[in-house]
Amino acid sequence: MPSGRLLEDSKDFLKKIGINVKEPANRELISYENGYTFYFPRAFDVPVYVENGVDIGICGSDVVLERNNEVYIPLELPFGKCRISIILPENREISFQKMEGYKIATKYPEITKNFFSEKGLKVKILKLNGAVELAAKTGIADAIVDIVDTGNTIKANNLKEAYKIMDISAVLLVNRITQKTKFDFINDLINKAKNYKNGVKGQ
Ligand code: PRP
Repeated sequence: MPSGRLLEDSKDFLKKIGINVKEPANRELISYENGYTFYFPRAFDVPVYVENGVDIGICGSDVVLERNNEVYIPLELPFGKCRISIILPENREISFQKMEGYKIATKYPEITKNFFSEKGLKVKILKLNGAVELAAKTGIADAIVDIVDTGNTIKANNLKEAYKIMDISAVLLVNRITQKTKFDFINDLINKAKNYKNGVKGQ
């Protein structure tokens, strides 16, 4: 389970396909319900757990791209929709093509590096672990690359979305061995998830 902003939607989604998630008590990180064991790492670490033996997981496609773990991703889920964008101070007018040499603060060094190198641009990346907007506000970075969902955080910090790098969605992750050894369970889960997803689309 992804702790943080995807947790509630993930629980709702699993409930709709017949899996009731129980949150752990106090500061515990594991819970048990109806024969399932649920783990609660940081969302950014979900692919690491799934690659290394946990059967299935849910996290954002941003995390999957950034972490680049060996996992099977059978489908996108119909929640967690947002985007990764280049964000600038409100009063700065510049296109990304002119950002050669820019200092860019981000939680996503791989995604940022790949984006700029594909465009043939060299930038300096400052890796931060959160509250990245502060780097643009204080001026320690020229721009940031971060998630934009409602846009409230950038607005509150006098920043603006200058360029969308990619759309993001929650995704289902499956361990590569589980996919073979528990094929029927995984297949059933994927089919239920697909039906639910189509139902959501049809609404
Ligand atoms: C994410 C992201 C932005 C914010 C965007 O941070 O890094 O700060 O959400 O959402 P909004 O457009 O709806 O305002 P998160 O809350 O996950 O925490 P973090 O900054 O500590 O990583």
